[in-house]
Parts: sequence; structure tokens; C-alpha cells
Amino acid sequence: MEKKVTVIGAGNVGASTAQLIAASGLADVVLFDVIEGVPQGKALDLAEACPLYGSASQCTGTNDLADTAGSDIIVITAGLARKPGMSRDDLLMANAKIVGDVAEKSARFSPNAVIVVVTNPMDVMAQLTLKVTGFAKDKVVGMGGILDSARFRTFVAMELGVSVQDVEAQVLGGHGDLMVPMPRFTTVKGVAITELISKERIDALVQRTRTGGAEIVGLLKTGSAYYAPAASNFQMVKAILLDEQRLLPCSPYVDGVYGLDGVCTGVPTVLGKNGVERIVELKLNEQESSDFAKSVNAVRSLVKVIGL
Ligand code: NAI
Ligand code: 2OP
Repeated sequence: MEKKVTVIGAGNVGASTAQLIAASGLADVVLFDVIEGVPQGKALDLAEACPLYGSASQCTGTNDLADTAGSDIIVITAGLARKPGMSRDDLLMANAKIVGDVAEKSARFSPNAVIVVVTNPMDVMAQLTLKVTGFAKDKVVGMGGILDSARFRTFVAMELGVSVQDVEAQVLGGHGDLMVPMPRFTTVKGVAITELISKERIDALVQRTRTGGAEIVGLLKTGSAYYAPAASNFQMVKAILLDEQRLLPCSPYVDGVYGLDGVCTGVPTVLGKNGVERIVELKLNEQESSDFAKSVNAVRSLVKVIGL
């Protein structure tokens, strides 16, 4: 196949992402993990699913990053996931070590790749990846806002009893407890939810979105969400592979817009074959600006902790 996507980390999110790519037939998939046998076993299982998917994708599992060489996209999901009571930020030090190492090494094998960073705390890991790889800023982008806005869309659809297909949502800021769901920019077939739902109920939906990851962790008890995260990763991979120029909430390096001078955080981002094609600057009101600033500051303080 012409395109090759590497997924680093063959755990819940990585394997589910690999499955969506393999089923789509858009690219060959390489699954990498440090645990011997796991990426090989999951990739073989996926390869055996491809005839049933009607997909010609080749699926390979490996413990050797050399096998990832020449990838068009690298999706980094390696690292620890949350357990009950843990925030995404609690994963910082352990995951910085893992992500710093795999990002730097895999980038050497695929110098032209676009890297999608998923490991938490994601915005900080995206910034770390940018630093250790030395890649141009349009080649590294974090996944978080698509997931958060999918959750917001789901809760809005449940509230109004409408199809989730008619709901679009926007979430800005870091993929953490201070993320900023944006009711003014969240619509049902073009109508802002501020016209359709009371302020009190919107506040409740916003709060449920902010704690959407923890809600799943609390139910699963042994790990965090992976179906919706994998679907979010796939949306980004597809947008890049097919040069879709999609406007999606992602976490690129934001420098010179939104009054920011160099931090990875969630903003509306156009994704295409070059990775981050451009960032769209929304006009925020006072409350939105203040919430966004708080969220970005939380990312910045973690960035400082790991000395970036
Ligand atoms: P998991 O525990 O199921 O899988 C993690 C995998 O990473 C394991 O297979 C482990 O062996 C592997 N790994 C550890 N060190 C590695 C290394 N140096 N190289 C390659 N692989 C390595 O965890 P899960 O659920 O897949 O989550 C992965 C990460 O993604 C977590 O940090 C989680 O918090 C994050 N996440 C982020 C989301 C987002 O929206 N940005 C959404 C969901 C999860
Ligand atoms: C989530 O939001 C853990 O970041 C992950 O589900």
C-alpha cells in the first residue's frame, strides 16, 4: 500500500486505532510496543480480519522501531493510562520519559512523518514531541479536542433527544480538567445550543464533558476510554492521509495567534496532507478568554515541570 501509519503503543487506544486504520484500507499499519509478542499478536489478528473488512492493508507488529521506517503518520499512544482517582496530569513524569524516548527515535526513522500525539497529559506530550524530534511545528499535533467535543456532542444530543449527527461542538484549551467546552460555538443543525438549552443545563453538560474521561475511568476501574479516543485518532489520520482539509479541534503548537507565544493547546485546526495546515482564530468573549487562559496556563505549568 502507498501509505504507512505507525501506531506506537499496542494497548487499548493504540490497538483500537490500528483496527480502524486497517479496516479502512487507507494505509498499511505497523503496531509497535515494548512488550514482546503483544504487537505481533494484535497485528496478526488484524491482518486476519482484513479479508473480512475487505481491506488490503498490511498489518505488522514489532518491538523494533526500525520496522516503522518511512511512515507517513506516527500515532503515539505509548505510556501509562489513568486509574481511578488519577488525573491526566498525574501521568506526567512517567509518560514524559516514554514519549520523549519513542518520539525522538521513531522520528529518526520517519523524518517526513506527521506525528499525532495521544499519550497524556497530551498537550504537554505534544510539546515534548515537537522539542525532541526537532520537527517543524506543522508536523506535530495532539489529539484531545475531537474526543472532548465528541463527548459534548453526545451529551447535547442526549439532552435534546436529537441525532448526534446534527450536533457539532467546539472545545478549546488543554485536554485536562480545565478544558473549555464552547456553548456559543456548539450547534444543532446551525442553531447555537444557547438558544435551545437553559444555562443551568448547559453548565451541567459542560461539566460532564470536562469530567467525561474520569466518568469512564470510574466505570472501567482498570483503565481509561479507548473506543472514542481511537475514533478521534482515526479522524485525524484520515484527514491527513486524504488531505481532507478538515477543521477539527486539535492541539498544535500555537504561536502568534490567540495571544499565545508557543504552547501546544486545543484550538480549531485545519488538518491536511502537511499536518497542521492552519489554525483558525475564534473571537472569544471575556468569559471564554478567561477560561481559555486558565486552561492554557495549566498546560504551561506542566510544560515547565518537565523543563521544556
Ligand atoms: P494501555 O495501558 O492500554 O496501553 C499503553 C501501551 O503503551 C501498553 O501496551 C504499553 O506496553 C505501551 N508502552 C509503554 N511504554 C512503551 C514504550 N516505551 N514504547 C512503546 N510502547 C510502550 O493505555 P491506553 O488506554 O491505550 O492509553 C494510552 C495513553 O493514551 C495513556 O497515556 C492515556 O492517558 C492516553 N489517552 C489519551 C487520550 C486523549 O484524548 N489524548 C484519550 C485516551 C487515552
Ligand atoms: C480521556 O479523556 C483519558 O484522556 C483520556 O478519556
